[in-house]
Amino acid sequence: MKLVQTLTLCLALSLSLAAASHHQEGHAQNDKPKPGEHKHEMHHGAKLDRCQGMEFDAVAVNEEGFPYFFKGDHLFKGFHGKAELSNETFPELDDHHHLGHVDAAFRMHSKESPDHHDHQFFFLDTKVFSYYKHKLEKGYPKDISEVFPGIPDHLDAAVECPKPDCTNDTVIFFKGDDIYHFDMTTKKVDEKEFKSMPNCTAAFRYLDHYYCFHGHMFSKFDPVTGEVQGKYPKEARDYFMRCPHFGQKSTDDHIEREQCSRVHLDAITSDDDGSVYAFRGHHFLSITGDKFHSDTIESAFKELHSEVDAVFSYEGHLYMIKDDEVFVYKVGKPHTHLEGYPKPLKDVLGIKGPIDAAFVCADHHIAHVIKGQTVYDVDLKATPRAPVKEGTITHLKNIDTAMCGPKGVTVVIGNHYYQYASPMIMMTARIMPEQHRVSQELFGCDH
Ligand SMILES: *[C@@H]1O[C@H](CO)[C@@H](O)[C@H](O)[C@H]1NC(C)=O
Ligand SMILES: *[C@@H]1O[C@H](CO)[C@@H](O)[C@H](O)[C@H]1NC(C)=O
Ligand SMILES: *[C@@H]1O[C@H](CO)[C@@H](O)[C@H](O)[C@H]1NC(C)=O
Repeated sequence: MKLVQTLTLCLALSLSLAAASHHQEGHAQNDKPKPGEHKHEMHHGAKLDRCQGMEFDAVAVNEEGFPYFFKGDHLFKGFHGKAELSNETFPELDDHHHLGHVDAAFRMHSKESPDHHDHQFFFLDTKVFSYYKHKLEKGYPKDISEVFPGIPDHLDAAVECPKPDCTNDTVIFFKGDDIYHFDMTTKKVDEKEFKSMPNCTAAFRYLDHYYCFHGHMFSKFDPVTGEVQGKYPKEARDYFMRCPHFGQKSTDDHIEREQCSRVHLDAITSDDDGSVYAFRGHHFLSITGDKFHSDTIESAFKELHSEVDAVFSYEGHLYMIKDDEVFVYKVGKPHTHLEGYPKPLKDVLGIKGPIDAAFVCADHHIAHVIKGQTVYDVDLKATPRAPVKEGTITHLKNIDTAMCGPKGVTVVIGNHYYQYASPMIMMTARIMPEQHRVSQELFGCDH
């Protein structure tokens, strides 16, 4: 509610400022604000931009681990993109209350309660809704007091805390500064005091860490003791959102953000010397030995601007693919864009865009191009370039990016990566290899 008021205030302010400047310029006629129009827009979320800084009502992942951020009657899916009406995905949330917002949400994790495992729970007023794969479970909504006896109505936040993070499979509820641990097996409620924690408006478990959102900041906390360790609060827009124009801070902060961000990568490559370049939205991170550098794509790769699809390194150059075009930069200080580029992807690799990933292993001249689950190889010494279907990756889906370096092939999906000794092993693998963390293990994030 506060945000809506603030937005309205901002709108009113900018309208009156606009009006004032119009007056100064002497065009006083046609500048009458049309409040109805703006109200309409607000209601439909056109003005709901999370990059403006937003206090979320509730956050929870779905059964596939994909995050949902709730605000008012809207829902943001994933780390970037526009708001949708929550009732498009969860129509029943409207039926009973027309409250227009979700108080709290979590995804159940309890192997011992298979009926509930992986379900998304939403709390509205006095009711709880249980969804599985976006379908409301039979018998829901129910009273909160029926499903979670001892837990109050009108909650602020909720988050699951499975074993072994908590002793038993538990759900943590937040209301003001009251904290309740609800044991899923015994239904016992433990009231806790989380002294160093701010009051959370939303709480979220992501990649085994626990986050409390308050205002447009967040803090990472220990689910058992409520202790906040490390430098918190931090700005949610730096870590949980992809905001192109946000973050005009010092270079050190940029590096830390790019190391620790949970937002997926667009592209990554390792050059012949083992330097790694990772691209995300409008920013990139480069790692040479133990030296980190971060900047905007606009400043180091001006012609490309931002948001690249795939990048590979070949003979001292970075081949950067965006939609149906290839930009080629000679690696140096500064990187220089080759004359004659961008060229159509069809001419450079013989493939139509968009592609998901591309890499060349050192000392070879074969570009491996991943499009969906299909891998093509392209001989970079041959003209014209003729892609050959090399194989299919059956055990991985939704590949964000991949690179080939001294350790073999690294494939990145969301916050995780997988390693293979060679492209052939990647394609013939039938089971998932060990999962690694991008932020900690690839970029050395320390939290
Ligand atoms: C969804 O919510 C919007 C605004 O809250 C409302 O105008 C619309 O009628 C709702 N749609 C459905 C299918 O309930
Ligand atoms: C965990 O569950 C067991 C029974 O399954 C119960 O005896 C014990 O008290 C619970 N522990 C906590 C911390 O709630
Ligand atoms: C936290 O919530 C309690 C009510 O439970 C309230 O008294 C307190 O002022 C809140 N603190 C902040 C910083 O809003």
